[in-house]
Amino acid sequence: MSTHPKIYGVIGNPISHSRSPLIHQTFAQQTGIPLTYSAILAPLDSFAATVDRFRAEGGLGLNVTVPFKHEAFAYCIDRSERALQAGAVNTLIFSQDPQAPARGDNTDGVGLMRDLAYHGIELTGKRILLLGAGGAARGVLGPLTAAHPANILVANRNGETAKQLILDFGAGPKPQDIVTLCACALADFPRDEVAFDLIINATSASLSGECPSLPDTVLQGHTIAYDMAYGTAPTVFMDWASARGARALDGLGMLVEQAAESFYLWQGVYPQTELVRARLRAELHSS
Ligand code: ATR
Repeated sequence: MSTHPKIYGVIGNPISHSRSPLIHQTFAQQTGIPLTYSAILAPLDSFAATVDRFRAEGGLGLNVTVPFKHEAFAYCIDRSERALQAGAVNTLIFSQDPQAPARGDNTDGVGLMRDLAYHGIELTGKRILLLGAGGAARGVLGPLTAAHPANILVANRNGETAKQLILDFGAGPKPQDIVTLCACALADFPRDEVAFDLIINATSASLSGECPSLPDTVLQGHTIAYDMAYGTAPTVFMDWASARGARALDGLGMLVEQAAESFYLWQGVYPQTELVRARLRAELHSS
């Protein structure tokens, strides 16, 4: 067996902020699997060429981040059910032969579900509000639906995109037969809506320091407000929710859990995530 470290990485633009190298190097140390994992900046117009070069140099797998998850989907011929459902790929798996077709998977949905479970959040029979209708929302709608909440309302700045997302889901295999899926524009958000059990911010608003505008009635003390974004400080959405008595969580755990699932796809070994969560949290607090 070769003792050369296996080659992995994360590809995006921008990419220098990515915590994935730290996470995967920690998983590698923990499991004793020799590998390298680096951050790769792809020019906006050269995703496929950059991936081809990485494979030609012996690369065996890539995580894919903004803005390339759709291009990664198009790059693959062999796609997992999860990738097909999300319409996006965040994990590429290559064989030793650079000419062989790449396999594409999506671990974002399972990452969210594992983090919700980690925080002891039950979904069965619950009322969920999903904010956003872009790639991030699409990636988690299937697993959320499969957890049998009572209903999911998708609210997006552009209401038509939210409606389209629901329609696309209606076309697939559906555990949602028993889950009510609805969609609306944020601007037309129903004022008489009863408070939700879980609100997930899957918009990219936090990245620009903004918060989707919602009536205060969507929250009560029992509501959990989950932002897929994370940073050195709570996001505006988290602050908005906390100020109204809700429990606010960021997406750091989801990041770690989706990484663990990618690691498992590549190595066949499931790493422990607790240590990495603590290490990352400490790093964020000190920066
Ligand atoms: P991602 O892959 O992160 O989901 P995306 O596909 O570009 O990125 O989707 C971004 C999502 O954030 C969209 O739902 C977008 O709303 P529109 O469809 O109306 O564009 C939402 N979004 C971005 N900025 C927002 C803001 N300031 N307030 C509310 N929603 C916002």
